[in-house]
Amino acid sequence: MCEEKGDIFSNLTSGYEGVGEFYDLFADNSDIPFYIEYAKRTGSPILDLAAGTGRIAFALAQEGFEVTALDNSRSMLASARRKLLQASNDISNRVTIIEGDMEHFKISKKFSLIIVPNSFGHVLSRNAQLATLRCIREHMKHDSLFILDLYRGELQYAHAKFEDHPVQIENDRTVERHGEIYSDRRRKLMRVDIQYIIKNIDGSIIKNIEVKSGAALFFNNDIDLLLQQSGFELVEEIGGFDGHVYNAESGRRILLLKKSTNK
Ligand SMILES: C[S@@+](CC[C@H](N)C(=O)[O-])C[C@H]1O[C@@H](n2cnc3c(N)ncnc32)[C@H](O)[C@@H]1O
Repeated sequence: MCEEKGDIFSNLTSGYEGVGEFYDLFADNSDIPFYIEYAKRTGSPILDLAAGTGRIAFALAQEGFEVTALDNSRSMLASARRKLLQASNDISNRVTIIEGDMEHFKISKKFSLIIVPNSFGHVLSRNAQLATLRCIREHMKHDSLFILDLYRGELQYAHAKFEDHPVQIENDRTVERHGEIYSDRRRKLMRVDIQYIIKNIDGSIIKNIEVKSGAALFFNNDIDLLLQQSGFELVEEIGGFDGHVYNAESGRRILLLKKSTNK
């Protein structure tokens, strides 16, 4: 799929335009009970940064929480807005959708819980990461919780391919998702090329959407320093959405953070 010569890690963007209506079909929703559990501990209001289609925001609203969902992709937000229109009044009244950039946002509210599900990697540079964390901190109260879920940089292969099972959509059409992942540990960058192929029942292709997505690779020491510099203190370190304590074999590193008092 990736045919360009030269630096495949240059001009990386977050790459979600055109895929909003298909994104949820392939989502692993095992994180939803985890976020609901923490929402029960903190209460509302909740800020879901890089909320995409509102996959998690609407699940939280369904549980009775008040959620602000921010994202910068028109396509992902269009799906979130469709859900808002289809939701019952009591749920839609609890969800606010904002088109914005997590690297610099200002909302006139402080939140009890801030989450960035699956997405902090899209903030590529160290300066942008610091700016994002600064914004997050400014939107927290003294006892708020910030959950940062990260893929572990050291577990990423230099090159990998994946192909999901086709999913049936309306009118007997199917959507297939294929992808290739390239990682450069030295530059701490990753690129994910994804193809969504929409087919008729006879196998003929209706549409082929290709997106290229860039993400930062995070290593423990780097992220620990970044969080310390940004005024966060670790509350708990979890290794997966099943809630196990983080260890060397964990597939994820999920950090539960609060504002540090000495900043
Ligand atoms: C992997 S998707 C995750 C979406 C959602 N959090 C979920 O778990 O279903 C990443 C999301 O990050 C959003 N995103 C990337 N960079 C962003 C930025 N700078 N500001 C706001 N949203 C951003 C993309 O538009 C996309 O919706």
